[in-house]
Amino acid sequence: MNDIPQFRLNNGLSIPALGVGCWMGQVGESDQVRQMIVWALELGYRHIDTASNYGNEESVGKGLRDSGVDRTAVFITTKLASEDHGRVSAALDESLAKLGTTYVDLFLMHWPQALTKTGEALPPDASPTIAETWREMEHLVDIGKAKSIGVSNFSVKLLDQLLESARIVPAVNQVEAHPCLPQHALLEYCQHKGILLTAYSPVAKNKLSSNGTLCQIAAKHNATVAQVLLSWGIGRSTIVIPKSANIERLKENSSLISLSTEEMHTLNELHKEKGMHHSVCGFHSSALGGSCFGWTYEQLGWDMVLGGVVPE
Ligand SMILES: NC(=O)c1ccc[n+]([C@@H]2O[C@H](COP(=O)([O-])OP(=O)(O)OC[C@H]3O[C@@H](n4cnc5c(N)ncnc54)[C@H](OP(=O)(O)O)[C@@H]3O)[C@@H](O)[C@H]2O)c1
Repeated sequence: MNDIPQFRLNNGLSIPALGVGCWMGQVGESDQVRQMIVWALELGYRHIDTASNYGNEESVGKGLRDSGVDRTAVFITTKLASEDHGRVSAALDESLAKLGTTYVDLFLMHWPQALTKTGEALPPDASPTIAETWREMEHLVDIGKAKSIGVSNFSVKLLDQLLESARIVPAVNQVEAHPCLPQHALLEYCQHKGILLTAYSPVAKNKLSSNGTLCQIAAKHNATVAQVLLSWGIGRSTIVIPKSANIERLKENSSLISLSTEEMHTLNELHKEKGMHHSVCGFHSSALGGSCFGWTYEQLGWDMVLGGVVPE
């Protein structure tokens, strides 16, 4: 692993710019997750991104203990499930027990939507609202169970709404980001407000591995497309959290390269090519009828249409 930069959060704490993602493509505890964490920590990763919804916090905790790396040396993020917006404190306690730790470094509201226990989305103005859930999360900072708090899948529209009543400005907004969905406007907004952007699906779920422009840049640096994508992500000051359960790819993802200003510009503009501006995540499936987990794109403040495509 070469030197991975640390970014400064708006409360003065640091976060490693590279983390290992723990969404395994399916929900559940597994030895694969435990092994991934052990390998990642052995390779020098010091940032883990999991979530209550991934159902694997126990395996993450076990991996951390098996690695022998001290808890305090690792930045752990977990996330509040949408079904738990009305029981924030109890939900974090459950995550802490599973992880086997007394605090998390970062606790994120996974999605702005609150869901009922049976999975139906409440409308944006129904209680618990984003503001009410955030107030409960702020309390967790006061009592030291979360060192920092943030949000995920928040648009400029929803951040504006949250900031109207927030006592603590979110430290992070975690959203999908890669050259096909660079989120330039959201990144600029977050930088202006002192919120770091974390890029999820930063290697675009390996769906860009044969893209000509990316392959050309990779070849020039004797690197892989994934290394180009991650180096671009960190180069534009976003945190990247690629998931790999393969030790060679974990190693590859932790070795960054230095891209020229011209290459950064080329990657910044890649989404402008015809048909390129889109999400790679399945939850934008047209089968969901223009909404994402129960809220329309308009309610979410996302400029997208069916299938996660940004209108030309
Ligand atoms: N907040 C949210 O709503 C949200 C949503 C999605 C994801 N996330 C977080 O972000 C993390 C990363 O996102 P993601 O898992 O969606 O996508 P990703 O990291 O862009 O891609 C993961 C996929 O790419 C493969 N891969 C990883 N490195 C590779 C490499 N160097 N070469 C070729 N293939 C490679 C992995 O397979 P192998 O394991 O076989 O290497 C896996 O199939 C998640 O794990 C999760 O922690 C958060």
